[in-house]
Amino acid sequence: MNTKDKKRAIWIVGASTGIGEALFRELNNVGNTIFISARNKAQLESIALTANATVEVLELDITDEFAVSAAAENIRQSVGRLDQVIVNAGTCEYIDSDEIDMAAVRRVMDTNFWGALNVINAALPLLRSARAMDPNNAPQLAIMSSSVTYQALPRAGAYGASKAALRYFVESLKLDLQHEGIDIRVISPGFVKTPLTDKNDFDMPFIIDSEVAAGRIVDGLNSNRFDIHFPSRFTRILKGISLLPDSLRFKLVGKASRHPETLSKEHPKSTNDHYTELRKP
Ligand SMILES: NC(=O)c1ccc[n+]([C@@H]2O[C@H](COP(=O)([O-])OP(=O)(O)OC[C@H]3O[C@@H](n4cnc5c(N)ncnc54)[C@H](OP(=O)(O)O)[C@@H]3O)[C@@H](O)[C@H]2O)c1
Repeated sequence: MNTKDKKRAIWIVGASTGIGEALFRELNNVGNTIFISARNKAQLESIALTANATVEVLELDITDEFAVSAAAENIRQSVGRLDQVIVNAGTCEYIDSDEIDMAAVRRVMDTNFWGALNVINAALPLLRSARAMDPNNAPQLAIMSSSVTYQALPRAGAYGASKAALRYFVESLKLDLQHEGIDIRVISPGFVKTPLTDKNDFDMPFIIDSEVAAGRIVDGLNSNRFDIHFPSRFTRILKGISLLPDSLRFKLVGKASRHPETLSKEHPKSTNDHYTELRKP
């Protein structure tokens, strides 16, 4: 399905800022009906004012299963189907302490894993309705994971685990649902400049703007690729490291750890230094 050719019903969850807002701008074509969701209703309403598409604001917290179901019911009553769902909402907290911050891990899992599943579960009947209305239509379910799932990174245990769990779930779902003609995709960006990454206190190698990221995502969703990952100069490094023997990859990636015993004068101090080191011949 090419997003430029068809007037579609689209639900972007996590559309108020960052990549989700940029995705809205990419898909904001006359004829499309776009439902935009997040917690910040005022921000969503201000985005809706810029619309060429028909836009409906559906404020929700994805961790609230009932709020997500209510939003899906609104969509059912409004247009009766969904041609594309982008499950983009997410959060990130790094684990800084030697003690595992269990509350932080739960918050991240609640949003990135359980929240995403709430949306997937509520959206599936609407995707099936689109298929039933037009058997030539392959309704699309796109899930935001992360390139961090290719290789564990220091301090990213909560975030990486949530996105890796989501990736596994979605791959399994694809195996079980492909006979229904629902087109399931995973999106795995490297670093993208957004309010989420603006909080990071380390250098982010190969970081790109959210507009560039949104363009890459829409191109990927229009292609046949299951895993839409970018920028490839970053994702290839992570995938390459993941293929190394365990002892070597733990030694290499461990250099980016902030643990006092790991840091020494010989070791690079930031993630950026670390990747610079890795790129040296
Ligand atoms: N930026 C990166 O480098 C990067 C890399 C890989 C993957 N990602 C993923 O890309 C997605 C978008 O991130 P971003 O970088 O664009 O960050 P962002 O600007 O902070 O956007 C996050 C979006 O998710 C929404 N959201 C967060 N928690 C929510 C909740 N409980 N219920 C409903 N909506 C919620 C936010 O809206 P409200 O706050 O208004 O609810 C916002 O619209 C995330 O899943 C993130 O993990 C980002």
